[in-house]
Amino acid sequence: MIKVRGLAKAFNGQQVLDGIDLDVAPGEIVAVMGPSGTGKTVLLLTLIGLMAPDAGSVDIDGVAVTRMAEPGLLKFRRNVGYLFQDGALYDFLTVAENVAFPLREHGKLTPAQVKARVAELLKLVDMAGAGEKYPSELSGGMRKRAALARAMAPGAKVLLCDEPTSGLDPVRSRDISLLIRGLSKQMGCTTVITTHDVRNAFRAADRAVVLHEGRVAGQGAEDALRASAHPFIKEFLE
Ligand SMILES: Nc1ncnc2c1ncn2[C@@H]1O[C@H](COP(=O)(O)OP(=O)(O)O)[C@@H](O)[C@H]1O
Ligand SMILES: [Mg+2]
Repeated sequence: MIKVRGLAKAFNGQQVLDGIDLDVAPGEIVAVMGPSGTGKTVLLLTLIGLMAPDAGSVDIDGVAVTRMAEPGLLKFRRNVGYLFQDGALYDFLTVAENVAFPLREHGKLTPAQVKARVAELLKLVDMAGAGEKYPSELSGGMRKRAALARAMAPGAKVLLCDEPTSGLDPVRSRDISLLIRGLSKQMGCTTVITTHDVRNAFRAADRAVVLHEGRVAGQGAEDALRASAHPFIKEFLE
């Protein structure tokens, strides 16, 4: 479903990604882990063509993202749910209007259908009563859940979540991690989560990939990774 080969990206002579290979099977949830500044966001942005790599390729569901021009990319991105690190809700729209936004952009639903879909999504993220609130009135956890509802709104088969637990307390972090897992499995999404939060990575994902020095240092389910002899992985998982 997602196939990344030899992905490389440098900024001002600093090699951030240095030959990343990554495969995500249909319906699988993979956590990409690594400390801050290892290039997790750069990787995620490259997956949807918001950033161009220096070398390598990204293939998603048969779409050659890294070789595609803007008109094709815009169409492709409509089928990908992207949860930005800061939530990135529109402050001037209510929660319900935020979730409705990508549905209206699609233009295929009637206003009544949009309203019904928004209600359904808000219920899924346990925000049924909060549709009329503005983002400034919400807690950090609620903002994340609203942003997740918006990311999932078009019924995307690919879901990318950038640091879904950042800025949240441990309880909210656990909740959003389990919510992402539940919704992703329920909707049959192929999902990539980036995080430096080891505990919640394994709550959400089937498998984790650890980045180190621009490459994949190791990957696998929690038990396999914890058994790794790689010094960086051992240190990172502690
Ligand atoms: N647009 C950019 N211009 C210059 N440097 C960037 C840009 N985006 C990211 N970087 C650099 O790339 C590195 C990795 O960034 P990032 O992917 O945001 O890390 P992470 O998400 O793992 O914390 C950092 O050193 C960051 O400063
Ligand atoms: Mg980041």
